[in-house]
Amino acid sequence: MAQFWDGRAADLEQKAKGPVQASVEMSNTPERTVETIKSMPEYVTLFKKSFPTEKDPVTFENMAKAIAVFEATLITPRSAFDQYLGGKESALASSEKEGLKIFMDKGCAACHGADGNSASSQFPKLAGQNAAYIVKQLQDFKSGARNNPIMSGMAAGLSDQDMQNLAAWFSSQKVKTGEADPGLVKAGETLYRGGDKSAQIPACAACHGPDGSGNGPMLVPALAGQHAAYVISQLQAFANGSRTNEMMNPIAKRLNDKQMKAVASYIQGLHRTPVQP
Ligand code: HEC
Ligand code: HEC
Repeated sequence: MAQFWDGRAADLEQKAKGPVQASVEMSNTPERTVETIKSMPEYVTLFKKSFPTEKDPVTFENMAKAIAVFEATLITPRSAFDQYLGGKESALASSEKEGLKIFMDKGCAACHGADGNSASSQFPKLAGQNAAYIVKQLQDFKSGARNNPIMSGMAAGLSDQDMQNLAAWFSSQKVKTGEADPGLVKAGETLYRGGDKSAQIPACAACHGPDGSGNGPMLVPALAGQHAAYVISQLQAFANGSRTNEMMNPIAKRLNDKQMKAVASYIQGLHRTPVQP
């Protein structure tokens, strides 16, 4: 099956060669990659085992083959999307199907990831985000109440129905949690769960929930697993007033840089309590 959001790699094997060489990712050359693999005896032994008929098995081609074979074993058993791809039309609700279609047509996946788990920390993860919150943000981008040149342009062409369908699609996806920095996690957790009384900062958990799942009806976003860099950027925007929200503006103003960094790291590693399907 074609890979990447725009299908530019014909298959898994072609795709495996991309990130190794891309300037924004590992920025390596095929020659240096082979050299690096050869510098580790464990890998040389494993390549010999995997390609027993070849004299010099550590090649860039074989690296891509090995990664592709491994990736083909990665599955998300019984996910609604897999069932849908497998031909079970009823696995997705009609609003989710519409949302998926708009998501693909409008190119949201380029930045936010095909399943709403963006690869780059500049772009927020949308997977598992509360639907009503997503609709509100898209309306705010469209009206200019939330200011971001990229997203204002993206939201300008969306109808209310498009926004609802997109929100249904993202909220049905599962967020992939990142890792917290072990050096920051304790301070971050203390602030998240208990606030800071001396600085009059309330516990984030009071509104965003102990597991970071937010509060759908109250339009409070889920935070669990969100990229730390994005969280920091939004806390700074609330603090300097370039993003306005009557609840978040006073809270963010009272956070110092260290607290923002710590709580953002904790949030990046926070796991939502799994909801059984
Ligand atoms: C070129 C990159 C790009 C594309 C394409 C894009 N976005 Fe975004 N999106 C962003 C950035 C950057 C932000 C963060 C904006 C900010 O800092 O306020 C964002 C924020 C959002 C948010 C707010 C998330 C939150 O947690 O508050 C939503 C919802 C969203 N985008 C939905 C969409 C949808 C739907 C589409 C397709 C119609 C789309 N985006 C296309 C870059 C993009
Ligand atoms: C009184 C309730 C409340 C408390 C307490 C609270 N928040 Fe929020 N938070 C909100 C609401 C509501 C929004 C959505 C703002 C909007 O609609 O633009 C939000 C948005 C955010 C966002 C933006 C998320 C995104 O996807 O763009 C971040 C980050 C955030 N809060 C972090 C925190 C942190 C960290 C704390 C604790 C120090 C905290 N919040 C405490 C209510 C709260």
